Amino acid sequence: MIGITLLCGCSSVSSLFFGPKTRVWVNNNLYPGTDMFLHCKSKDDDLGVHQIAYDTGYSWSFHDDFFDRTKFVCDIWWFDPNNGGKLVNGTDLNIYKSYRDITECGHKCFRFVKPDGVYFLVFQKMELKYPWPKQ
Ligand SMILES: *[C@@H]1O[C@H](CO)[C@@H](O)[C@H](O)[C@H]1NC(C)=O
Repeated sequence: MIGITLLCGCSSVSSLFFGPKTRVWVNNNLYPGTDMFLHCKSKDDDLGVHQIAYDTGYSWSFHDDFFDRTKFVCDIWWFDPNNGGKLVNGTDLNIYKSYRDITECGHKCFRFVKPDGVYFLVFQKMELKYPWPKQ
């Protein structure tokens, strides 16, 4: 596993060469009392597993790679209180990709985890990007 040392080492160097940092927020908009779990990674950084309460969020920031190749892939899962606590498991979701998202979110990217899937705020509009897999 690649730890926090690499994360810090990289960002202090890249800040000399690249523009503003990008921040991604992933908000839990499931049900009151329902936590979500997420685990996001890029090629270089593993952000670890986080348990996030309803109506709160998780965010992180980074410098986009010079060639816009930066990509964060997340697993997001939760247990559905309306379906006997059954696991809902979204894997390998492309939560952030520089070349796709940089113009759409302008360095502030908002994602909303809802009962029917993961929504992105795209040019101020909510779009369902990743419906949950049927199981
Ligand atoms: C979700 O699915 C992935 C891929 O099948 C699996 O590796 C992971 O353990 C599952 N998550 C949970 C919480 O069971």
